[in-house]
Amino acid sequence: MSLDLPSPEPTDEPRIALDPARFEERLQALLALETIGEVRSAIPQVREEWLASERAAEGDEKTLSLPPGFLGQALDQISQALTIERARYYIERLRRLAGEPRTNGVNDIDLNRWKTYADIRTDSLWQIERRDTSGAHTAGYWGNFIPQIPNQMMQRYTRKGGWVLDAFAGSGTSLIEARRLGRNCIGVELQEHVAQGSRERLDRVPNHSSVATEIHTADSSTFDFVAALRRHGQPKADLALLHPPYHDIIKFSDDPHDLSNCESIPSFLDRLGQVVENVSLALEEGGFLVLVIGDKYARGEWHPLGFQAMQVVQQQGFMLKSIVVKNFEETTGKRAQKELWRYRALAGGFFVFKHEYIFVFEKRGQEPQA
Ligand SMILES: C[S@@+](CC[C@H](N)C(=O)[O-])C[C@H]1O[C@@H](n2cnc3c(N)ncnc32)[C@H](O)[C@@H]1O
Repeated sequence: MSLDLPSPEPTDEPRIALDPARFEERLQALLALETIGEVRSAIPQVREEWLASERAAEGDEKTLSLPPGFLGQALDQISQALTIERARYYIERLRRLAGEPRTNGVNDIDLNRWKTYADIRTDSLWQIERRDTSGAHTAGYWGNFIPQIPNQMMQRYTRKGGWVLDAFAGSGTSLIEARRLGRNCIGVELQEHVAQGSRERLDRVPNHSSVATEIHTADSSTFDFVAALRRHGQPKADLALLHPPYHDIIKFSDDPHDLSNCESIPSFLDRLGQVVENVSLALEEGGFLVLVIGDKYARGEWHPLGFQAMQVVQQQGFMLKSIVVKNFEETTGKRAQKELWRYRALAGGFFVFKHEYIFVFEKRGQEPQA
């Protein structure tokens, strides 16, 4: 039997909110019991009380928020202990969850409670079957990313109140998530009507943490991100999200500044490099840059756009931290075309795209002068 707290599988299960004082009181009462039989008899009432708790509110820092699945397993572990000593050991472990947080300084993940973060992904293969369509999110902007991507990245690479840049804001997915998670976010989108739609959606998202979330209509290769941050008294950002067009797979507009209008892959990579260089000026040393991109298939040839774009970022001095491969979720449109693509793949000797990449980079400090 494992002596550890349970490690639940990654889940999007909403957390529940517990009053830390009441949590401590309950566990102290369990610790005061003298026999394992008494502990086992007391557990159902504790379980009932905890699992009936309200869902944790976004931005609420006063409560202890835990996934109910984790709590259920922790209580099972106590009930199944063979001796009172073992049960007390498990109870003490649970008590430590409500203690002083210990973080890595980059994010707010409390390392003392690391087993309770079942919603945080740490594997490099993401199979996400459903996009989060809750709240103001729209699935209607062709080419937007699923909200889980900016959500996970902000939770890993920023703290509450931190600053995020999104150089290709589109339908505002990152900005909506930033507001929900209590992060500030400056987004840039080339097309005014797209930016305006995002502003309107954003207006519907409650701003519990009073963060700044703004979308500018501009070309992100020349937009002054530093000045935009300074207007808020903020020198640099902690995280930059880049979800550019995948070259010309989707034509977003007729604007010649639109990266989807670059005439060739080399010119696309060149323009992407300009955006990375420009965004980098506004990013803290030790800050993170996340590039989300897929490959391209044209005239019988697979173009590894993802890896080519990855190298563009590395050439700007960024250090590669991780490559995540994420599946394409199955939309209604894609399902209808699935059979056709399968036929084409069998006939044409290729494999149908089912994945895209999330590249995570860290901005390195200046090399010391020789
Ligand atoms: C792949 S989409 C990003 C979608 C976004 N992540 C979302 O969830 O809605 C790329 C976006 O970049 C915009 N775009 C293209 N070239 C741009 C440029 N030079 N500067 C700013 N935005 C640009 C396009 O209009 C499009 O909305």
